[in-house]
Formats: sequence, structure tokens, C-alpha cells
Amino acid sequence: MRSVIDVMDLSVKELEELIATAEDIIADPDKYAEACHRKKLATLFFEPSTRTRMSFEAAMYELGGHVISMSEASSSSAAKGESVADTAKTVSNYVDIIAMRHPKEGAALVAANNASVPVINAGDGGHCHPTQTLADLLTIWREKKRLSNLTIGFCGDLKFGRTVHSLAGAMARYEGIKLVLISPVELKLPSYVKRNILEPANIPYRQTTDLEDALGELDILYMTRVQRERFFNEEDYLRLKDRYILTEEKMKKAPEDMIVMHPLPRVNEISVAVDKDPRACYFKQVLNGKYMRMALILKLLKEAGTI
Ligand code: NCD
Repeated sequence: MRSVIDVMDLSVKELEELIATAEDIIADPDKYAEACHRKKLATLFFEPSTRTRMSFEAAMYELGGHVISMSEASSSSAAKGESVADTAKTVSNYVDIIAMRHPKEGAALVAANNASVPVINAGDGGHCHPTQTLADLLTIWREKKRLSNLTIGFCGDLKFGRTVHSLAGAMARYEGIKLVLISPVELKLPSYVKRNILEPANIPYRQTTDLEDALGELDILYMTRVQRERFFNEEDYLRLKDRYILTEEKMKKAPEDMIVMHPLPRVNEISVAVDKDPRACYFKQVLNGKYMRMALILKLLKEAGTI
């Protein structure tokens, strides 16, 4: 049973096919309105979410399918001590596909190993978040018209930010990618990401603490929230949370055609005044995420022989 736990589970060719499907959905949504007729998606979210869960749900509805949801871990059997494996086995009896978010790294893999339907990882702890990366790739594709020859600045919490880990992995497979890793020293990109992803692909990267200094050389600035829920102590969070704030003033130093991305939710990292700058693309990412989730649900249900 094919599941998607990591963006690396999808080949570059498959990413391109997903983008093509999403573009086709955008051009002709009616064609897909009954594609998942009478099929069901379960959203199992053991961690807070607005966009990811609602976008999976909207995606399934727009494909003509149905959704059942377990949004509150505290009101499910997880609160009684049920394992992820048992929950996955159980829910497989009710639905055709599962989207799951969990605070523990590896939880989605455990679910996939025990489910009898495809599982999509909607975020596992500080590890990865492949469908946010799909949203990001469609956004880059639509805004920059290419996925190669790009200098990308990741800024903020590169240690715990799972969206950064997944997008860095996906981009490392394209030609001419350069990364600028902008973070406080305490929140640097984990060495396993550098060792396992950037170095084998020979991706040039530099690490800096200075956002303003890096702005001028970027095609894409990917801002992130400091991941409060993954900190061991509140003091460290408070000390680091407002280290980077993108303002209109700072945007003057950025190239005219640089785009600003953010997986959202935003806390304080981007001043609201930047939203009206045409380079701000974070709300476009939200919409693109729905189309890419539609494309992924279609692909996995087709491969499973369900549709
Ligand atoms: C991200 C996540 O959950 O990792 N949000 C999202 O899915 N769009 C980013 C974040 O929470 O900071």
C-alpha cells in the first residue's frame, strides 16, 4: 500500500506529475468534481492545525468524496492509551485514505505500516511535512516559472521547522539550487539534514544570523515561526521568538522579483504591512496546498485501485 510519509517518497517525475494534475484541476475543476465519489478520507490530527486539516477536507469534498474527522486527540481513544498502530488499523476499516498529524517524529510511518489504506503524513513532530512541500512547490512553480536555478533563504526556526526540512529535501533534487540558512545559532538546520540531504546532492549552502545581509541575493525568502511547542523551556522561546521580523523597510533591500513564502501560521515574523507587497505569496500557498492535496489524494487512490 503506497503511503506518503516523506517528500522523498515521491520521485522528481511524480512531483512534476502532481504539479501538472494540480494545474489541470485549477483549469477545469468540474472535471474532478466526482473523481472520488463515495470515497472517504479520515483526518486524524493529534496536534493543532487550521490549514492542513481544513485543506485536506476541502480537497476531498471538491473531489466529490466524504470526510470523517478525529480532530481532538483528547476526545479519542488516544486519551485512553491506544497506540498509533491500533488507531491506524481501526480507522482503515472506515475509510479509503488517512491524513495524519502527530507530535511524535515517525508516528506517520508507524500508522502507514499498520494501516490497510494509504496514509499521508500531515506533519510528524519536528521531522517532516510533505504536503506543505507540495503546496510550496506549486507556489514556486507558479510564481517563478521554474524549480531549478534558485537561491532560497530559509529564515527562522530551521531546527524544529519541519516544513523547512521537507522543502530543503525536495529542492535538493533540482539543478542550480543554493541555500542561505538564516537562523539564530540555537536554531540552526539539524546536521542530519545537511549530512543526509544537502551534502550528498552537493547543494551549496551558507549559514548566517543576518537576514538583512542575505536579502539581496535571494529569489525566495521562506520565513518560519519559532516552534514554541517543541521547546524544552519557555525562556529560550521568549528570547528567540522575535529575532527575525520581516518589515516593509527590510523588503526595500530585497530584489523586485523575490517572493516571500511562509507555511503559516504567522505569529510575528512578517509584519502585516508586508501582506500588500506583491511579492508576498503566503496566502497563495494556502490555496495551492488544497490543489496539491487533491492531486495527491487522486494519485494514491488510483494506485491503490480504489478509484
Ligand atoms: C506548519 C506546520 O504545521 O509545521 N504549518 C502548516 O502546516 N501550514 C508550520 C508551523 O506550524 O509553523
